[in-house]
Amino acid sequence: MATLKAVRGTRDLLPPETELWNRIEAIARRVFARYHFGEIRTPIFEDTGLFARGVGEETDIVSKEMYTWEDRARAQSEKSQSLTLRPENTAGVVRAYIEHKLGETGQLQKLYYIGPQFRRERPQKGRYRQFWQIGAEVIGPPSAGSESPLRDAEVLEMLATLLDELHIEGWTLELNSVGSSADRERYNNVLRTALVEVAPKMCADCQRRAVTNPLRVLDCKVHEDQPFIEALPKIGDALDQASKDHFAAVTAALDAAGVPYKLNPRLVRGLDYYTRTTFEFTHGGLGAQNALLGGGRYDGLSEAIGGPKAPGIGFAIGLDRLVLTLQGQPKIALDTICVETPCHAYIAPLGEGQNAAALALARELRKSDLRIEIGDGSFRLKKSFEIANKLAWRIVILGEDEAKSGILTVKDFLSGVQAKVPRAELSAYLQKPADGVST
Ligand code: HAM
Repeated sequence: MATLKAVRGTRDLLPPETELWNRIEAIARRVFARYHFGEIRTPIFEDTGLFARGVGEETDIVSKEMYTWEDRARAQSEKSQSLTLRPENTAGVVRAYIEHKLGETGQLQKLYYIGPQFRRERPQKGRYRQFWQIGAEVIGPPSAGSESPLRDAEVLEMLATLLDELHIEGWTLELNSVGSSADRERYNNVLRTALVEVAPKMCADCQRRAVTNPLRVLDCKVHEDQPFIEALPKIGDALDQASKDHFAAVTAALDAAGVPYKLNPRLVRGLDYYTRTTFEFTHGGLGAQNALLGGGRYDGLSEAIGGPKAPGIGFAIGLDRLVLTLQGQPKIALDTICVETPCHAYIAPLGEGQNAAALALARELRKSDLRIEIGDGSFRLKKSFEIANKLAWRIVILGEDEAKSGILTVKDFLSGVQAKVPRAELSAYLQKPADGVST
């Protein structure tokens, strides 16, 4: 029988790598708390219409990459419904914002999420069909200041801080403004006209996009198309004064905060909801899929899915790509946020008769927050030492004599010191740093 494997584009995350993921998530949560963000958890699947209307029918994500199925009615009271595994989380957050009437609080909502997303893309390094995002959204009624360029700058400054605290070295913030929806419509028309002549010389995707979604032509990566794209009109020239002023205020605030950025007039992003500020943080170590994270402003998204006016800005970090980046960096940077933590002690029962006593001792020690692993009485002592040496700072020998006397033999692997420790003092003894390590 053929062995079953994880589905193409999905993968298992195993220890110790999961330890690194947990550390990254913990650092992100800590940084978000400092900026007054709270966590939101939305469902992993939603009504398909949410993404069609929110992300945009013409985007690659919606037209080609969604995992969609018809959820048949199971009872008369139910209707069948088209459902989709979320390809991204912004539309779900805005849906929740509308559903829970968060706008009525009159306050800015600062929400973050950590979770899997699903896109049926061609898998390659840094691109999976199930991948993880750490994202955040700032959304609210205009009266709460949700349109303010200060919010854009705050989000970008927070991201710079987060990447620095994660010891990600060598990131680049690429920044652009795609203007208001009126600006974009104007620009789309200019682009469509300009493309009539050049599109036939470009790749098949560009030829299609020239008609359906001209803005996406700017995102083409095909080498031969680049000279044509460079010669196209720039979106910055199509912005109205209000959009230009908004963008100038964002860059001025970034300058004041000392956050470096690079203007990239071709940065248009692959989702249709963006307005004004758009950005990506890229990293050279990632290869073709070099976007560590992406985001921007989406001032019309709430209305597009039936909600009140609720401008917003947010981002999503590709967690898989963040991990790849860290793993590609010099070890010293990685060690500062992730060292595989050994157990405080390995308990080696001498003989199977001591197994139950070992479990009881481990229970006692674990209650005082010590990391403990237990061996098995069927192991020879040599084998116990070999295992213990790999995963713990110390080994605790538990034989019949020790059980009777209540005095345990403890060996410290780093210093080689062997000590007799009364059971009542064992927990305090193990809490003390082993030679040269801090516990
Ligand atoms: P996005 O650019 O589609 O934006 O995705 C954000 C990030 O998710 C990417 O920069 C990348 O790091 C990661 N990512 C995307 N697709 C994959 C994949 N197949 N495999 C691995 N990583 C991937 C959004 O999703 C928007 N919702 C971001 C946003 C939030 N905009 C405003 N608020």
